[in-house]
Amino acid sequence: MGTDLDELLAQARRDVETATDARALEALRVAWLGKKGRITEGLKQLGRLPPEERRQAGERLNRARDELTQALEDKARALSEQALTQRLAAETLDVTLPGRGSGAGSLHPITRTLRRIERIFTAMGFESVDGPEIEDDWHNFQALNIPESHPARAMQDTFYLFGGARLLRTHTSPVQIRTMRTRKPPIRIICSGRVYRVDFDRTHSPMFHQVEGLYVADQVSLADLKHDLQRFLSLFFEREVEAQFRPSYFPFVEPGAEMQIRWGDRWLEVLGCGLVHPNVLQAVDIDPERYTGYAFGMGVERLAMLRYGVDDLRLFFDNDLRFLEQFA
Ligand code: DAH
Repeated sequence: MGTDLDELLAQARRDVETATDARALEALRVAWLGKKGRITEGLKQLGRLPPEERRQAGERLNRARDELTQALEDKARALSEQALTQRLAAETLDVTLPGRGSGAGSLHPITRTLRRIERIFTAMGFESVDGPEIEDDWHNFQALNIPESHPARAMQDTFYLFGGARLLRTHTSPVQIRTMRTRKPPIRIICSGRVYRVDFDRTHSPMFHQVEGLYVADQVSLADLKHDLQRFLSLFFEREVEAQFRPSYFPFVEPGAEMQIRWGDRWLEVLGCGLVHPNVLQAVDIDPERYTGYAFGMGVERLAMLRYGVDDLRLFFDNDLRFLEQFA
């Protein structure tokens, strides 16, 4: 057994030396030092040897076990160091690369359009005012000459709050009322903001934006209205826009009109307008014999769609960066 053991041991050392990973090492450890490993078996059989051989054989086996244990440990350490070195080499950080950055961000196309509209009207002498999105029936309908059960309400169904005591405004027109209640003519304001309706398709969204305009003074005429709107539209589209009135009906104006602009070989409706109805002036205690006014309301999404050539309004609200980034 003496030379046998030496030879076997030499073989084991070579195996340890050529092992390439922790699993191979573990297999070797089990084969030699495990419960049924060769050395363990040898130690178990010592008892069967004649006493005079037992001691020497025991010593040799113990030494072999220690040597092998040591060899396995050394190799394990060498392997893990090697693995670390390899990882460090593979995972080098190039600190000279530019940072990823977080991007500058940009304004939403509707915000840009709103600001553009506001900038133009401000330059034309309008003051920009605000109003609440949660309205009451009086401001949103009644004071605008839309009494209860008026058919115009059917086209502006909305979201009701507090058991019907309040509603989400269906247009920015109630801000006309709020402004005229707190100021005296001359009044020249615009109001922009969100409005709500029960609508949803390619050109309608339950929430959208409008800009309202109101000019009340001594002698305001349809000519003023047409001049101001035509000027606005030309500045907005950055070209001389051909515009025309078309008779239309809105309860809060008389006469009422839509303004259409020439778009290629078609006429497109872009806004509603008219001269403020005497009933509306009366509702806010402005004498309709003394003052006249014009009003208009336009959809911001609609103007943005025309300006940017977008054919589905819902794109503005999907928050898809591939769409939004085109306006950055
Ligand atoms: N409020 C109307 C709507 O939402 C738009 C409108 C039309 C506003 C005529 C006006 C106006 O001020 O004179 O459909």
